[in-house]
Amino acid sequence: MSQPPGPKHDTLVVLDFGSQYSQLITRRLRELGVYTEMLPWNAPAERVLALDPKGYILSGGPASVYAPNAPTLPEYVAASGRPVLGICYGMQLLAQRFGGHVAPGDQREYGPGEVQVTTPGGLFDGLADRLPVWMSHGDRVEALPPGFTPLARSDGSPVAAMGDAQGRYGIQFHPEVTHTRDGKALLANFVRRTGARPDWTPGAFIEESIAAIQAQVGDGHAVCALSGGVDSSVAATLVARALGDRLTCIFVDHGLLRQDEAQTALAMLRPVIQAPIIHVDASARFLSALEGITDPEQKRRVIGELFIRVFEDVTSGDLRFDVQVLGETVGRVMASLQEADYLVQGTLYPDVIESAEPYGRGSAAPAAKIKTHHNVGGLPTDMQFQLVEPLRSLFKDEVRAVGLALGLPPAVVYRQPFPGPGLAVRILGEVTPERLATLRAADAIVRGEIEAAQAQLDPPVWQFFAVLVPVKSVGVQGDFRTYADLIAIRAVTSEDGMTADWARLPHDLLGRIAACIVNAVPGVNRVAYDITSKPPATIEWE
Ligand code: XMP
Repeated sequence: MSQPPGPKHDTLVVLDFGSQYSQLITRRLRELGVYTEMLPWNAPAERVLALDPKGYILSGGPASVYAPNAPTLPEYVAASGRPVLGICYGMQLLAQRFGGHVAPGDQREYGPGEVQVTTPGGLFDGLADRLPVWMSHGDRVEALPPGFTPLARSDGSPVAAMGDAQGRYGIQFHPEVTHTRDGKALLANFVRRTGARPDWTPGAFIEESIAAIQAQVGDGHAVCALSGGVDSSVAATLVARALGDRLTCIFVDHGLLRQDEAQTALAMLRPVIQAPIIHVDASARFLSALEGITDPEQKRRVIGELFIRVFEDVTSGDLRFDVQVLGETVGRVMASLQEADYLVQGTLYPDVIESAEPYGRGSAAPAAKIKTHHNVGGLPTDMQFQLVEPLRSLFKDEVRAVGLALGLPPAVVYRQPFPGPGLAVRILGEVTPERLATLRAADAIVRGEIEAAQAQLDPPVWQFFAVLVPVKSVGVQGDFRTYADLIAIRAVTSEDGMTADWARLPHDLLGRIAACIVNAVPGVNRVAYDITSKPPATIEWE
């Protein structure tokens, strides 16, 4: 695994106390150009101190500081002498640890609110004296610790912000969410106080990442699982720059791709990726392994495992593939493949966090496991490859910025996300060739119609696709009663896929898509539109 740059950059550390916004704090700080890592509050001190943090941000969290077994302030933070920003629970921890008093407030403050700044400058430098903010707390600071002064108040909190001369601050609201209008300016003030240099740029990442890949792989050879998406394309480009002709990319058609996807993706990628790309059609093998499986997590596991087996078979020479595509380089590529000990994957930071493995595979951590992302949790334990994951510390928007800096075309960089396990995720229930054909045909209509309308849609739709629901219902077509499948349309607006809202598509467009699907796709007599946001739903159905 390639290591994030850590001490090469001035680093800030977000300690996660369980708030749903912890990742967002991390992203906001990186948007300010400072390398920031998020770690669980109980991460080993050596792991955190190895980063030599210039400052700490303590996230919010659901606990009460006085509850039995509540998360505590790590001693290395208290003793660090470095600036600290405690947000909500983080503020209460600071108050409690340094001798203040925290108690349940008379009124809980959730959602939009306002704070009045009582001590301008410092953390509030350049900000208005009344700030719209996003609150989410029950407890509040009732007595300040010695050495701290109040900086702001709200209706429900006599101390909505506090600070001391050492740069330890507490705020009772969330600066990371867009509802706190000047939240980013406040975070920038804190960053300035830490003295951390904003040197986290795509160019710096590319340079360090190439060096880290070279250090990890040495004179070894690697294969890269290329899917056509931005993550694997950026990962492949970085590794190609690091290893040159010791990298071979493998595009596996697992039979779960969208209509004509293998051909279009390969045509798009071959001129762009500076490494040979082998196309392996393993669809029959995947479909037979998926027979009878309906549980979504089991599907992901089966697909994740088979992916690795296919790579192992290709590199050991047990699997035949179309060598024509490799032209003159075939001999060299075959030799490199046989020596490949490393597998490159485009795993991202949120995958690492959502799979609850921030210290590496198999570790325990407080973040709740949401689903097994196929490129993290679904890998077999007896895999013969070592992983190279150059994007493991990046958020999606950072990957796009790196992709552009690497010179990848916008068609690759801004491609819609598509899950590694492909249409198996969007077919609820069993995956069969017939059901795949149904979903492919419906999905092609959804994508075609929305793409054609995209230019008129504001805000733009971030991701759109069809889902095959395992429900049949009665309909009437011509003079006949039908009992046929239901297709759901999913279209969302989002910034990064972490949260999303359903897209307010024009009714005419939705009507056109529905009519087209029921007329053109055999076995479908009903179309529904998903109008749930994430959370509480997810973008994919599964
Ligand atoms: P959910 O369904 O969790 O999806 O709201 C968030 C975003 O992630 C994509 N997704 C995946 N991407 N491998 C991927 O590379 C996966 O296994 C996977 N599962 C979901 C999904 O399409 C959405 O954009």
